Amino acid sequence: MTKQQHLGWFLARGFGPHGWGHPYLDWNYRWTEPALYQQAARELEQAGFDLLIIEDAPSMGTASTIDLRIRQAFGGPKHDPLLLAPYLFAATQHLGIVPTVNPAAYLPYTAARQFATLQHLSGHRLGLNVVTDTGSARHFGSAPSLGHDAAYDRAEEWLDGIRDLWRSWKPGALIASGDRYADGSLLDAVQHRGEYFEFDGPLNAIPFTDGEPVIVSPGGSGRGLGFAGANSEVQLALAPLDPESIRAYRAKIHAAAVERGRAPSDIKILFAIQPVIVNSAEEADRLVAASANPDDAAVLYIAERQSSDLETDLTALDFDKPLDLSVFGDHVSQGSIARLVGKHDPATPLRQLLAAQAKLGRLGQGGFVGTAEELADLIENLGDSADNDGVLLWGDLHPVTVHRMLDELVPILRRRGILRTEYGDGGLRGNLNSF
Ligand SMILES: Cc1cc2nc3c(=O)[nH]c(=O)nc-3n(C[C@H](O)[C@H](O)[C@H](O)COP(=O)(O)O)c2cc1C
Repeated sequence: MTKQQHLGWFLARGFGPHGWGHPYLDWNYRWTEPALYQQAARELEQAGFDLLIIEDAPSMGTASTIDLRIRQAFGGPKHDPLLLAPYLFAATQHLGIVPTVNPAAYLPYTAARQFATLQHLSGHRLGLNVVTDTGSARHFGSAPSLGHDAAYDRAEEWLDGIRDLWRSWKPGALIASGDRYADGSLLDAVQHRGEYFEFDGPLNAIPFTDGEPVIVSPGGSGRGLGFAGANSEVQLALAPLDPESIRAYRAKIHAAAVERGRAPSDIKILFAIQPVIVNSAEEADRLVAASANPDDAAVLYIAERQSSDLETDLTALDFDKPLDLSVFGDHVSQGSIARLVGKHDPATPLRQLLAAQAKLGRLGQGGFVGTAEELADLIENLGDSADNDGVLLWGDLHPVTVHRMLDELVPILRRRGILRTEYGDGGLRGNLNSF
C-alpha cells in the first residue's frame, strides 16, 4: 500500500530578488509586488501542496561584509515574509503559509497578537518557521548577541510566553451571544517573569477555533533538535535521501519528542530536496557527468555564492592556489567552512573546492538529477520503506520554477496515491494531520 505524503515548497532565497541573474526575471517578475508569489501559491495549491515556507534573515550582515551579501543578491535584500503572508492567504483557500520568524525581532506580546490576527484572517492556515540566527540581535536593540544554545533557550521562553498569551482566554471567556460578548473574569492576567522577558497579559485577541499556528523548525544541532522535540509540529530536515539516512534522522527527532513528553507522531518531518528534472535518464547522466567539470563562469558563480555565505571575498583569491584558511575571520561559521573544504587535501586548489560545490548527484546522494518518474520512485520508496512523512521541494518561487519541477511530477504522484487530490477542513494543522 503506497504511503500518502505531504509536500511543501521552500522559497529558499526568501522574499527578495531571487530570480536575479536568471532570464526569467525578464518576464516582468517584479519581486517587490505580491502578484508573482500569489500566482505561484495558487499553483502550489492546485497541485495539492500542504505548505509554502518562506526563508528569511532580517540582517544583511556587518558593515565590512555587506557588499559580499548583496552584490549578487545571494544574502539580501529581503523584505519581510510575515507581511507577504496576508497577500498569499488572500490568493488561496487551503495552502498553509509559513513565514520565517526570528524571536530576536519581536517582543512576545507583539508576536502573539500579530500571529493570532493572521491565524484568524487566514482560516487557521498560518505556520511559523522559528529560527535563531544570533548575528542579527544588534538590529533590534536587544542584549548583545547570545551564544548558539542560549538563543534556543530564549526562543523557547519566547514561544512559551506567546502560548500563555494565546491561552489567556479560558474556555467560556468568549460568549458572543445574547447581550454579552465576553466574561472578563475568565481571562488570565499572565504575569510572565522569565530569564529573557517580562510582560503581562491577557492577550487582546480572541481564542482560536481550529488551534494555534503550526510551529515549524529547521535546526539540526543537538539543541536545535531539542527545540523541535519540545515545540514543533513540522521539522525541516537535511539528509541524504536514502531510506537508512531518513530512518536515522526520524529516530533522532522522535527521541527528542519523547524526551520532552510528546509523541513521535506529533511531528511531521519533511526532507528538503532540490531536484533538477530532465526528460531522460541519459540526459540526467550527461548533466551529472558535465557538472564534474564546470566552466569558468560556473566556478565564478559558486565563488560569489560562497563569498556571500562565508562573508569572505573568495573571488579576490587566486583560484589556482590552495585556500588559506586564515582568510576566514571569527565571524564565519565553522560548519560552512567545513562544507566548502570537505574531505579535500589542504593542497587542493581553490578552483577544485569550488568546482566540487557545482557537482550534481544523480538519485538522492549529493543531489537529485533525474526524470519525474525517477523522482516519484524515490519519494515513493522513502515513504514505503522509511515511513517518510513528506518532502520539501527547494527553489525560487515563480511560475517558471514551479512548472519546471511540477508539471510531470504532480500527475505521477497523484496517480500513485502519494499526493493529495483534495483538502480537508481545519486549516494547516487539519491538513497535516489528515494522514
Ligand atoms: C530546510 C532548512 C531551512 C532553513 N531556513 C532558515 C531560515 O529561513 N532562516 C535562517 O536563519 N536559517 C534557516 N535555516 C538554518 C537553521 O535555522 C539554523 O540556523 C541552522 O540549521 C543552524 O542551527 P542548528 O545549529 O540548530 O543546526 C534552515 C535550515 C534548513 C535545513
